[in-house]
Amino acid sequence: MAEFKNWDYHFYDVLGSTNDEAQKYCSVSSQRNIIRAKIQTSGRGRRGRQWISESGNLFFSLVFEFEIKNIGALVLISALSLAQTIEKFNSKADIKLKWPNDVLLNNKKVSGILLEKAKENYIIVGIGVNIVSAPQNNELIYQATSLKQNAINCTADDFLHNFITQFDKNLEQIERKTQLKDEWLKRAAGINKKITVKQETAEETGIFYGIDENMCLLLKKDDKIKKILVGDVFFTEE
Ligand code: BTN
Repeated sequence: MAEFKNWDYHFYDVLGSTNDEAQKYCSVSSQRNIIRAKIQTSGRGRRGRQWISESGNLFFSLVFEFEIKNIGALVLISALSLAQTIEKFNSKADIKLKWPNDVLLNNKKVSGILLEKAKENYIIVGIGVNIVSAPQNNELIYQATSLKQNAINCTADDFLHNFITQFDKNLEQIERKTQLKDEWLKRAAGINKKITVKQETAEETGIFYGIDENMCLLLKKDDKIKKILVGDVFFTEE
């Protein structure tokens, strides 16, 4: 069984969703846990979407105690650690972070994060990475790609090990918010450009001005800065 320095590791052949399985580890363990599945039969994405989970790709959830007030920083760290892991495999990879927590490779989505609050003060960070294939489905709002399609050849195991090392490093630095934010902004997709943020029943268009300490998107509109908490970003051609 693979070893991770600060984590207990649980690897299943098949699960519905690693995020659902992760719920069972809250309270029963004071240790941080990684729940991984080779295949998920009901993988979930953000905002009720489906995450098709084919063998060869990576699906895992991290479950640990975490102060909810720092949730914004955790979103940032998770996405940043994914970007840095891919860059480790190919330092020239064209990686962009799409607010709030998608990772783009050559402008297509290669990884997604589903953060869920669990009971007491536990948090679940569910991550899917397209290692060998880019599943297509009708619900996709963004084109998908895989590492393999971009000539980044690594296994799901390799990726997970490198990711956990990077994530641990960033988590140790969580108080250095400005530095982490700068690292995120350096890779931000669409920064200072016109974007549209689509929400459940509304949408807003403006200039992507940045993010705040809580990972809210700052949208410049009519010389005012508006904070946006949730939504999907679309890039508007100009
Ligand atoms: C998104 O981009 O919409 C988020 C996708 C998150 C998918 C991962 S795969 C592991 C974990 N288990 C799930 O059911 N979802 C997350």
